[in-house]
Amino acid sequence: MNHCGTHAIETDRLLLRPLTVDDAQTMFENWAGDEDVTRFLRWDAHRNWTVTYEYLYHLEQDYQNPRCYEWGIVQKSTGILMGSIGIQPSPPDPEWATIGYTDKEFWSVGYVLGAKWWNQGYATEALRAVCEYWFDNTGSELLVAYHHCENAASGRVLSKVGFILDHAAIIARYDGTPVDCDGYFLDRMDFLRPRGVRAIYEDE
Ligand SMILES: CC(C)(COP(=O)(O)OP(=O)(O)OC[C@H]1O[C@@H](n2cnc3c(N)ncnc32)[C@H](O)[C@@H]1OP(=O)(O)O)[C@@H](O)C(=O)NCCC(=O)NCCS
Repeated sequence: MNHCGTHAIETDRLLLRPLTVDDAQTMFENWAGDEDVTRFLRWDAHRNWTVTYEYLYHLEQDYQNPRCYEWGIVQKSTGILMGSIGIQPSPPDPEWATIGYTDKEFWSVGYVLGAKWWNQGYATEALRAVCEYWFDNTGSELLVAYHHCENAASGRVLSKVGFILDHAAIIARYDGTPVDCDGYFLDRMDFLRPRGVRAIYEDE
């Protein structure tokens, strides 16, 4: 894999860009401090914006590493920072070893938006863009993803982008608590050639 780190990406409605410490207050207010937003995530809501600041301070250092992929999701029409999306090494999951990919490493994508911006297609738009960035720039064959098994909205986002539900998995939160999740994968070829298009070729 050729790692390339976090560079800005633009879509119709979104700018995906690296986060900075200057985003601390907005990130805290718009999503990181909201327990309703973080209840299905691997981390707890931040108690105050200094926790967010500290996270962003370390993230700014991490951006020097080409293996760091973390974008803020900005609504272009307003300039508002609504959430974030990132790709990280997958949590340990022996099931991936059985699916026969040559990638030595499995990387998983995760995303979060403030509740005000839910159900307007933003997560789907951001995820599509980040998957395209991943496959175009890293040469990776695969991306994986998990969601809490009760988090149907996240499953819907993954399905819309072409991720395939593969298996039930127990994934640890960052504090070590195990959580029942659903594990998905997206094959590079399925992403580049959506199934509807491929079906037409196969029928000919
Ligand atoms: C999950 C999340 C990112 C989705 O973001 P979003 O911008 O609302 O997603 P989209 O609008 O692109 O798509 C949401 C889809 O889920 C559907 N949906 C929403 N709530 C749902 C529910 N309770 N059950 C089933 N489907 C649901 C929507 O109808 C939509 O599908 P549609 O386009 O077919 O109508 C957002 O809810 C969020 O940030 N949640 C908190 C953090 C989180 O859970 N992150 C994911 C961790 S795995």
